[in-house]
Amino acid sequence: MLDRIDHIGVATEDLDASLALYERSLGMPVAHRETVESQGVEAVLLDVGEGHVELLRPLGSDTPVGRFLAKNGPGLHHVAYAVSDIERALGLFKESGIELIDNEPRVGIRDSRVAFLHPRSTGGVLTEIVEPAEGH
Ligand code: CO
Repeated sequence: MLDRIDHIGVATEDLDASLALYERSLGMPVAHRETVESQGVEAVLLDVGEGHVELLRPLGSDTPVGRFLAKNGPGLHHVAYAVSDIERALGLFKESGIELIDNEPRVGIRDSRVAFLHPRSTGGVLTEIVEPAEGH
């Protein structure tokens, strides 16, 4: 049901510094940059093969990523798996007892549809599932 790892999300307070690392030093091309108000982040997607790294800078301290940074500092934030039918995936996960943060998909970066699973029920890993928009 999970097709592949779509991206890993990395929380940062300084997008320019993170881009210096991921784009210039590690050589990943920037694919997309977008402010996602509903998630309280400015996000940059970089290509690495079929997958991506998603850099996340919070728009404020009172946002999920802002709170994460205050608690944990910068670093790995979540792992995202691609699915072709997000409603079906959420239904199956719920049936199997996984705690959902989002019962309904919401709009993510590049018009994808996304939902998060609670790290309490995924071994401490904040897990995102993403149904990419056509063409991505
Ligand atoms: Co993500």
